[in-house]
Amino acid sequence: MKTLKHLFDNNFSWANSIKERDPEYFLQLSKQQAPEYLWIGCSDSRVPANQIVDLPPGEVFVHRNIANVVVHTDLNCLSVIQYAVEILNVKHIIVCGHYGCGGIKAAMEDHRHGLIDNWLRHIKDVMRFNATLFKGLEHDEQLNLLCELNVKEQVTNICNTSILQDAWKQGRDITVHGWIYNIENGILKDLGL
Ligand code: CO
Repeated sequence: MKTLKHLFDNNFSWANSIKERDPEYFLQLSKQQAPEYLWIGCSDSRVPANQIVDLPPGEVFVHRNIANVVVHTDLNCLSVIQYAVEILNVKHIIVCGHYGCGGIKAAMEDHRHGLIDNWLRHIKDVMRFNATLFKGLEHDEQLNLLCELNVKEQVTNICNTSILQDAWKQGRDITVHGWIYNIENGILKDLGL
């Protein structure tokens, strides 16, 4: 049996390096989490939430799935949003897409990928809703546009959830942001939605 020892070695030295700087760090963190941000991003291994915005453990509540999709009937994602808004009292919800997203690329193709095609339907819908914007564009331009429009769509979906509608009705100050990350240069962009 392979035990992935190198990952445990990495973990041990990572934890020790933090404890050298701040011996109480993990003890303090174990008592509570009070993140200000909920991050909804893509599962892509190149888009790790905390690292991109250089925040330590405890600062970001994270939900990731293929192509950062927020579906009104996805109990997993909705539960994360509800917990973040109602229990953790996050101030900001960030939907972060990324250029060159494999999920988006797959949604633009016509051939079958298996079970995931059912998930990607949500992205195909985004393309269908915005069909006129794609006319005359090169494939890569279409891909980047769909990556951005998908973020926009998911921001709208979050705003329309009963969770956000109720929170805003109660006067809660929560902002929903649409961002996109460039895996080629590591830079984030606010889509200003
Ligand atoms: Co992706």
